[in-house]
Amino acid sequence: MSEANLDTTAVQRPGAFFGHITQNVRNLANEYFSTAQKGLTLDVGCGNGLFFASLPKPTGKLVGTDLDLSLLYESKQIFKDNEVANVSLVQGNVTTMPFEDKSFDNIFFLNTLINIPTDEIATILLNELMRICRPGGRIFVDIRNAGNPILRYRYWRHNRREEFTTRGYHLRHLAGLFATKGFKITRKTAIGPKLPFLALGYFLEAQAPQ
Ligand SMILES: C[S@@+](CC[C@H](N)C(=O)[O-])C[C@H]1O[C@@H](n2cnc3c(N)ncnc32)[C@H](O)[C@@H]1O
Repeated sequence: MSEANLDTTAVQRPGAFFGHITQNVRNLANEYFSTAQKGLTLDVGCGNGLFFASLPKPTGKLVGTDLDLSLLYESKQIFKDNEVANVSLVQGNVTTMPFEDKSFDNIFFLNTLINIPTDEIATILLNELMRICRPGGRIFVDIRNAGNPILRYRYWRHNRREEFTTRGYHLRHLAGLFATKGFKITRKTAIGPKLPFLALGYFLEAQAPQ
């Protein structure tokens, strides 16, 4: 089911979940998922579960994890309202994921790097995702584009006023982090304009070495 057709009456904070780029990222994840739906799929920082709720019936198993228990309860309601029956939910912190090494075929990490306050923490998180990804498995992640000067200015202003961070990343930064563990960026889609200094963000697929 496309996200536009979902019953979203249970969403408590529409402003946090239905921004233009945020929705765009989940729609791209939905498109990319069609090539990745076999095996075990994890949505890290799944929030209220909108991504899984919008998927066509997958052939593999789905697991969602988030730090915030109230959002996990919200996702249960959204799954119920949309007759999604096949998702397991686990509360957990992405810095120390409660999963074995090499356990997932597909890992989605959507709309979350934007709020990670430092490069050091972002590195820890991505290393953790790479730890739990199976050989040949894939990690799907988005970044807001630090190469876009308007976005950089917008985030700089936001960070002066608000308690929570918003930030962009350069594609080469992410590619470099993935390369440290032998992962390669195998697909990418620009969000918004395609020019590197105008793109709002990128949606990426990184594949683990065999
Ligand atoms: C902006 S929301 C995105 C939710 C969802 N992925 C989506 O695209 O709709 C970011 C999510 O990351 C979760 N999160 C932030 N830090 C986390 C951490 N350290 N461990 C697990 N989840 C975390 C938040 O609770 C929140 O649900």
